[in-house]
Amino acid sequence: MALRKIREIGDPVLTKQCKEVTEITPRIRDLIDDMFETLYDAEGVGLAAPQVGILKRIVVIDVTGEDPILLINPRILETSGEQEGYEGCLSVPGKSGIVTRPNYVKVLAYDENLKPFELEGTELLARALCHELDHLAGHLYVEKVTGPLVNNEDLQDAEEK
Ligand code: NI
Repeated sequence: MALRKIREIGDPVLTKQCKEVTEITPRIRDLIDDMFETLYDAEGVGLAAPQVGILKRIVVIDVTGEDPILLINPRILETSGEQEGYEGCLSVPGKSGIVTRPNYVKVLAYDENLKPFELEGTELLARALCHELDHLAGHLYVEKVTGPLVNNEDLQDAEEK
């Protein structure tokens, strides 16, 4: 396992469409291991393969730090409701902005053996699913922010008051 370099906003790889995974090769297994290691090292909630420079439809998410989720070739089946809240991204370091997302999302994805499964999420997981799937289509949350991007330190100060 190894840490991968996280690409940041302005890097063209973050604006590209990702390709479907059709076969789980040793390289793909290494990529998945490295993505989890990179996610936990960066203390993030989710990471998509293009964020480490690989244009494949692979996402890792962990909203609690103890519930790793791997999604290969994910697509959204259903959404409902609405939530508004601050969102950040490891590719936009130190910043957050308000994004409106569905409050419920159902996703179809494939596991590490390319077996299909469905996953439902609400609140933070629903937000993370939408955010990470956007990465696979070359989109960053900053395109959807209402209001200004704020520095995370300012946000923490505001939350403590
Ligand atoms: Ni992101």
